[in-house]
Amino acid sequence: MNEHTTAGAAPTSSVAAPTVPALSVHELRKTYPGSGPGNGVEALKGVSLDVEQGDFFALLGPNGAGKSTLIGIVSSLVNLSGGSVEVFGTDLARNRDAAMRLIGLVPQELNFNMFEKPLDILVNYAGFYGIPREEALARAEQELRRAHLWDKARMMSRTLSGGMKRRLMIARAMMTRPRLLILDEPTAGVDIEIRRGMWQTLREINAAGTTIILTTHYLEEAESLCRNLAIIDRGSIVAAGPMKALLARLDVEGFLFDIDGQLPERLPAIEGATLIATDDHTLDVEMPRSMDLNRVFAALGDAGIRVRSMRTKSNRLEELFVRMTGENAVNGATDSTAQVAPEPTA
Ligand SMILES: Nc1ncnc2c1ncn2[C@@H]1O[C@H](COP(=O)(O)OP(=O)(O)OP(=O)(O)O)[C@@H](O)[C@H]1O
Ligand SMILES: [Mg+2]
Repeated sequence: MNEHTTAGAAPTSSVAAPTVPALSVHELRKTYPGSGPGNGVEALKGVSLDVEQGDFFALLGPNGAGKSTLIGIVSSLVNLSGGSVEVFGTDLARNRDAAMRLIGLVPQELNFNMFEKPLDILVNYAGFYGIPREEALARAEQELRRAHLWDKARMMSRTLSGGMKRRLMIARAMMTRPRLLILDEPTAGVDIEIRRGMWQTLREINAAGTTIILTTHYLEEAESLCRNLAIIDRGSIVAAGPMKALLARLDVEGFLFDIDGQLPERLPAIEGATLIATDDHTLDVEMPRSMDLNRVFAALGDAGIRVRSMRTKSNRLEELFVRMTGENAVNGATDSTAQVAPEPTA
């Protein structure tokens, strides 16, 4: 992530230098009004983050963390209470229309007319943004093809499957050729096969130069797609940085061992490591990263346990997520302005 540009000193032109972040959010605050004075909901407590141009960025956090509020502010659906937002160097408050033209939004809820055809939905949407009909038709074909929906272009949208409807939402957002595509839980409730198809579409969009920010509760989705991430919890960022660097900070590693034959009833004790039999011939092993795997193999060998194969447990992002959003982490992390991830306090 980049250092922040000084608030107010950034250019307001949309022709920005290549080093300007696609999105720069500074000290963002949002308090939703409550039923009386002093009882509003503080949804964002001073959030700062930069998303670089070309990035594929994940915004993670538990329910109610403030993700949609952040996205809502960036896409001008929610008024901010404090702080600033720049989109490719264009200040949202000072030049809202110019900033908005750079953003494509895929909201969580399906919000197109089910009784319209996909082609019409896309062309009408483009018309709303002043794109001439001829051009809109050409773009609509291109986007529907990319979304694998061209054969459904003239069918009633109501008849599309759930996954197709979600892809239609992405195709619609792409009609304005946004430089920044923001997706709020685009794959919520979508089965894994369709999700993978959507990942492919998003990868293609990103590879073609569009910066992407997405929120998701599927951690394997973030791990598979995103280069950088921020974890937000109760209105504050508790970790941010490159996916790889954050995962590398985890000091525990987990493996699954496939055992030849059956595991004995009593597993050997290996100091520092935790061994759990998940079934008769699978061993779940957790150990410090600094620990030598050979020690584990030797101890297992001594106990007559032969390891046939092993694989890394792929829930490391989950581990990070749980740690960063757990009670201990939250108590120690009140400063959300840190761009470098704070050390875990757990
Ligand atoms: N319009 C609103 N009026 C009052 N409070 C709101 C409003 N929208 C959100 N909130 C509150 O702000 C906080 C953050 O909500 P937000 O929708 O941003 O969370 P989120 O991270 O998107 O959660 P989820 O993962 O469940 O979508 C919550 O406490 C929520 O109740
Ligand atoms: Mg949300």
